[in-house]
Amino acid sequence: MTAVLKPEFDVVDINPKIGCRVLASKETLVSGKYAGRIRELLEQRGVLVFPGVHMSDPEQVAFTRTLGEFSPEIFGDEIYKVTLDTDENARADYLKGAFYWHIDGTMSDVPILASILSAKVLPKEGGNTEFCNTYAAYDALPEEKKQEIEGLEVLHSFAASQFYHNPEPTAAKLEEWINMGNKVLPLVWEHRSGRKSLVLGNTAERVLNVDPITSARLLHGLRDWCTSEPFFYSHHWEPGDMVMWDNTGTMHRATYYDPASGRMMHRTKLEGEEPVI
Ligand code: OGA
Ligand code: MN
Repeated sequence: MTAVLKPEFDVVDINPKIGCRVLASKETLVSGKYAGRIRELLEQRGVLVFPGVHMSDPEQVAFTRTLGEFSPEIFGDEIYKVTLDTDENARADYLKGAFYWHIDGTMSDVPILASILSAKVLPKEGGNTEFCNTYAAYDALPEEKKQEIEGLEVLHSFAASQFYHNPEPTAAKLEEWINMGNKVLPLVWEHRSGRKSLVLGNTAERVLNVDPITSARLLHGLRDWCTSEPFFYSHHWEPGDMVMWDNTGTMHRATYYDPASGRMMHRTKLEGEEPVI
């Protein structure tokens, strides 16, 4: 009888334009042996799912460090608790912005390269994380649309992301949001690799130098395009799943879940390697 050997590291694509499942033990992942391959997959597939690996916090931190420069949280913490439970995360209210399509860290000079989430507590219902590939969506645009949007600039602000879930803030709350910053970014990001992606999401307030209706049509029309079927993947979490995404060529959002469900994800991040230009 011949034994069928399970490969140490195997990859299965999810959708044609986005996502793959990486089948490897957590020991193999943490060893760093496949770090180069994982970085390639990140750029090619946008989203990597590591099903049921049950990484502990130190293992997740060690795994993240094999892939690039580790990006700590503002107070130096290595792990960020993604939860709507204000007892666990004092700034949980801001995270309600994550129910809408976004890119992480559009207000930083160099947005993070990648985020890694591990499922710790899952809700009974809802709470998927959805992704879309903004490289593939740009590539598939008709040529005349590419020409129309070439060179356009967009004002991104933290405040814009908060209006989605809190449309009537107090004046004091609005000031708090305004103080969290804004930034003008190109609508089309030309990466060092020569590939192009779209820079959209809930922080995108308006396209500069066009009227408000034109701006809304562009921002919402392109978001609708990017998040349509060929470029889209919805991850339904199973216990112990870890998911990593290329924050420079995808958008993501959480689908609704009950804030009292206890849903808890632990996040690590990789430092960005190029500014949006
Ligand atoms: C994030 C995020 C989505 C989720 O951690 O940046 O947007 O499903 N998370 O929790
Ligand atoms: Mn996010």
